[in-house]
Amino acid sequence: MDARRKKERYRRIITQLEGLLKQTEDSDARMATVAALLHYKMEDFFWTGFYCLNKGELLVRSYQGPLACQVLEQNKGVCWAGINGKMTIIVPDVHKFPGHIACDPRSRSEIVVPVYDKKEKITGVLDVDSSFLNTFDETDAEYLEKIVEMIYSN
Ligand code: SME
Repeated sequence: MDARRKKERYRRIITQLEGLLKQTEDSDARMATVAALLHYKMEDFFWTGFYCLNKGELLVRSYQGPLACQVLEQNKGVCWAGINGKMTIIVPDVHKFPGHIACDPRSRSEIVVPVYDKKEKITGVLDVDSSFLNTFDETDAEYLEKIVEMIYSN
């Protein structure tokens, strides 16, 4: 998808979420809504979901796509790198990322975006996988960061 179309698509998703997320401030309900909307509106989103911190573990939460690992081995892989580095991580080729956790062998590229609560505490990550190489870029990072901010906003 070219950058202009991708931006338009994300802007429409944000507008739709502004309406949908008014229904509740519950973060689980909001994460489920975000995962479903992104998964079905964006091209090449093969797995779309959240991993959240719970007693030092990173556990799967709402997602769309094939069956995923429930618990991610500590301090390993892309999701933990996003948590520990508190930063968005774009992985053009997951096989080149040291320690990548392969929940599904069809995943080829990935983006991980940290989620923060109202107190700016990191609570987890949004993780999106594609079955193609090199799917995600700075446009995805910019808009997915805006979208995850909506989970804990009023
Ligand atoms: N690839 C992730 C694991 C989660 S799955 O992609 C759904 C990682 O290395 O953290």
